[in-house]
Amino acid sequence: MKYENISKGSFIDRPNRFIATVEIQEAGNARRECVHVKNTGRCRELLLPGAEVYLEKSLTGRRKTGYDLIGVKKGDVLVNIDSCAPNKAVYEWLKSGALLKDVTLIKPEAVFGDSRLDFYVEAAGRRIFLEVKGVTLEKQSVALFPDAPSKRAVKHVRELIRAMDEGYESYILFVIQQKGIRCFSPNQEAQPEFADILQTAQRAGVRILAYDCMVTQNSMELSDPVPVVLGEEKLPDDLLLERVVPLLLAWYDENRRVLPWREEPTPYRVWVSEIMLQQTRVEAVKPYFLRFMEELPDIAALAQAREDTFLKLWEGLGYYSRVRNLHAAAMQIMESYGGQMPDDYRELQKLKGIGSYTAGAIASIAFGRAVPAVDGNVLRVISRLLTDDGDIQDPLVKRKMEERLFPVMPKDRPGDFNQALMDLGATVCLANGMPKCRECPWEKLCRANLYNVWSQYPKKSGKKPRKIEQKTVLVIRDQDCVALRKRPAHGLLAGLYEFPTLDGHMTQEETLCFLKQQGVHAVRIEKLSDAKHIFTHKEWHMTGYCVWVDELEPMKKNKGFLFAKLQKIQEQYPVPSAFAVYSRYLEIRTGSEKIKDMKEGRDK
Ligand code: ADE
Ligand code: SF4
Repeated sequence: MKYENISKGSFIDRPNRFIATVEIQEAGNARRECVHVKNTGRCRELLLPGAEVYLEKSLTGRRKTGYDLIGVKKGDVLVNIDSCAPNKAVYEWLKSGALLKDVTLIKPEAVFGDSRLDFYVEAAGRRIFLEVKGVTLEKQSVALFPDAPSKRAVKHVRELIRAMDEGYESYILFVIQQKGIRCFSPNQEAQPEFADILQTAQRAGVRILAYDCMVTQNSMELSDPVPVVLGEEKLPDDLLLERVVPLLLAWYDENRRVLPWREEPTPYRVWVSEIMLQQTRVEAVKPYFLRFMEELPDIAALAQAREDTFLKLWEGLGYYSRVRNLHAAAMQIMESYGGQMPDDYRELQKLKGIGSYTAGAIASIAFGRAVPAVDGNVLRVISRLLTDDGDIQDPLVKRKMEERLFPVMPKDRPGDFNQALMDLGATVCLANGMPKCRECPWEKLCRANLYNVWSQYPKKSGKKPRKIEQKTVLVIRDQDCVALRKRPAHGLLAGLYEFPTLDGHMTQEETLCFLKQQGVHAVRIEKLSDAKHIFTHKEWHMTGYCVWVDELEPMKKNKGFLFAKLQKIQEQYPVPSAFAVYSRYLEIRTGSEKIKDMKEGRDK
């Protein structure tokens, strides 16, 4: 909301609640002015002699005073004290969709029972009463309400509870008319009854929210959510964790996802699925998993598989070192563990590619051991539950999380517990976008939800920006074949096959010059689409050319190149998705596209 005609002044005194005397500086002249205070609260700690104040020229002309006092400077921050401002700002904020999606009706001053509540809102079929309370009292960065006893405020909260009983949703929204606040609390000193009724309201399901505001000399807008602390004794973390376990298991019994590896959780199946799921979504993993199990049904088969075979089965999943490690570990198991996956959390971590998360998942799901499996999803969910400020990218924070989970692991259902956490993270407590707290079994206990601060958790230190590399991809072909090159045995996309790729963005001339050096004669060159591929730590920005050559023969002398028919590339050589745009140009189907064909029955 905006003000017009703002002047600056200096506070002198306040003869009564509605009136203040200020000195206004205008055009080098100072004059005294009697102004209207638009706040029935006291603002005693704000309106001190000499305080910098902001005044809006009142245009009605009917009143005795020509100005409204709307803002006071307190230290470095500007505090808005206009008691009309919160409702106006909330109206605009609701209209913008900031609180509720698909708002279809906003009715200010809605009658409910024998009270008037600030807003009645309809949004996506929901019917909501919302009461707004402006907050101007602050002590040690804690915003407090009310600043003086207010029976009316208690009555409003009672009405909100009653509205819940009658099938509406209810919100009470504390609008803190400044920035720089740590949290909001009801003012126990001014009115213990209000603090009590807020707790009752929370138990009844009334949503209690607090937001701070961006305040300038001539505007006020709602800004960020602020934690609400109702003054109840905070449950210690370990007790809270203990309490949520049965709720989560009961939720899992109703909502568990049916997944191929879940229905027959042998150690091998759990292991392979967990490795696939480490960087890839469940839906994308399913067909890869089924094909992998069909082609390499047990540890012995995996241990014997050739590199091109297991890379081809991974083609399109990315992070190929995962499958190299899987293969290496299978050989380790054959050699050192008699072909049996070890059933111990510590022993599992001695295998290549198995860290504490994967070891925890295998030990709990396949062997029923009571150990945690903490990955990014679990860190997110638990750090929200506990409003834990640890940086989840810090390995020590992950270790600490594992240590806290050990004592609460349910001995009879550890695998279900870990998988329930995974499902909760994937379907309810979402990583991107708003968590669905209203569907969450922890809704009433989760601190991030109770304080409305889910967006601030988990805490993450800034990631380094990815390095950008420019590449030129060459599709070099003659009548029958296309040139491929096997990538080096170490580093990015190790051991996979690529279309010859050069550093930098080459022009046509440079490309032709390169080919000449390789001893081939280009008959025709055609520019292909640009493409981008994102890896964990770098991005490839690619340009490409298709070059027809009269014969590939001279290139065969050059080490590293090989020449394959399209059909053979599709069937045999693993080509990573980074080159998808260029594979598609050749109408060969690799990686995820091949998997799609398989699902649709197009493949032989
Ligand atoms: N994400 C990683 N592992 C999972 C599992 N076992 N079930 C569901 N989602 C997962
Ligand atoms: Fe996540 Fe919300 Fe559930 Fe808390 S209540 S765990 S924030 S979905």
